[in-house]
Amino acid sequence: MKYAFFDTKPYDIPSFEKFGRDKGIEFKFFEAKLTRDTASLAEGCDGVCVFVNDTVNAEVIDILYSFGVKAVALRCAGYNNVDIRHCFGKLHVFHVPAYSPYAVAEHAMALLLTSIRRIHKAFIRTRDYNFSLSGLTGFDLHGKTVGVIGTGRIGRVFIDICRGFGMKILAYDKFPAENGNIEYVTLERLFAESDIISLHCPLTEETHHLIDEGAIKKMKKGVVIINTSRGALIDAEALLAGIKSRHIGAACLDVYEEEADVFFEDFSGHIMDDDTLARLISMPNVIVTSHQAFLTEEALRNIAETTVENINEFSEKGYCENELCYRCGKTESCRSKRKKCF
Ligand code: NAI
Repeated sequence: MKYAFFDTKPYDIPSFEKFGRDKGIEFKFFEAKLTRDTASLAEGCDGVCVFVNDTVNAEVIDILYSFGVKAVALRCAGYNNVDIRHCFGKLHVFHVPAYSPYAVAEHAMALLLTSIRRIHKAFIRTRDYNFSLSGLTGFDLHGKTVGVIGTGRIGRVFIDICRGFGMKILAYDKFPAENGNIEYVTLERLFAESDIISLHCPLTEETHHLIDEGAIKKMKKGVVIINTSRGALIDAEALLAGIKSRHIGAACLDVYEEEADVFFEDFSGHIMDDDTLARLISMPNVIVTSHQAFLTEEALRNIAETTVENINEFSEKGYCENELCYRCGKTESCRSKRKKCF
């Protein structure tokens, strides 16, 4: 089996080579992201292996299909960059549903603590032998209310971490967990009562710009917003306006609406074209990491292992437990009838 591996980073290669070799899978590593212009690199391959900022839209799917590519192996959980509906009948798509919810939830808490205790400022000061404390006053997390939107694998780990800090938890989920001992409230109430809001739901048509100007107006003054999920959950212009008006106290962003053009690459020494991102980064109360929440040794190992297992299972059986199919969804499984989606 041969898979074209797009958007390769040095940290991807060792684990994918190791697990791939064990199962007889050859990965052809390309630094380029998958787009209409690079899709031809996959010619002669059985499948493509893609990440969060690769483009798998209708046009790319048709090109891959015309080359005889049969599968899209996502090496991540989220799949908002794949047109699952257009894939149906052409390309099988599988993902890694869980690789380390701890990696992402712990990063969310790391961002929160860094932001509210001004660690990012203190780090720079002490390196310059500046030991002044002016402007570094933070606040206790103990007793504060955190609103968690999306209480799946990552959201629930984040809730557990917050409980350890003695915080009050309010949650919102379209499909609330039944036995999680979690207090679910309406979005309106979550916005109105939370000191901190953390996003852990997927990006869908419904959640696109979940945090917009109207939502921000409903939030407490000084609210801290954390996004480790997907950038387009937040309207970045509205966020910037909320920060400039001092309504938002701080923002911790591991993802950004237009990240595909910039994240994962080194632009130091270049002029940043994206004015909104540049302005956000210039704010003292905004912390940006470049989609790094997943980046732990444990997560990388699990991602490679599960992706290779998915590819192998699909090759041996013609279907894969971790297949994504617009028809299966969570409600009606075509696999339950005949194991194959198509
Ligand atoms: P999950 O599928 O276990 O949980 C998602 C939760 O969101 C579910 O409980 C679901 O019911 C809920 N949900 C669905 N639609 C909703 C809506 N309209 N409103 C509110 N809640 C809704 O997913 P998991 O593993 O917890 O991951 C969450 C998200 O984290 C992923 O979708 C992905 O975008 C992001 N992620 C980010 C990473 C990073 O490195 N920054 C790494 C891994 C995931």
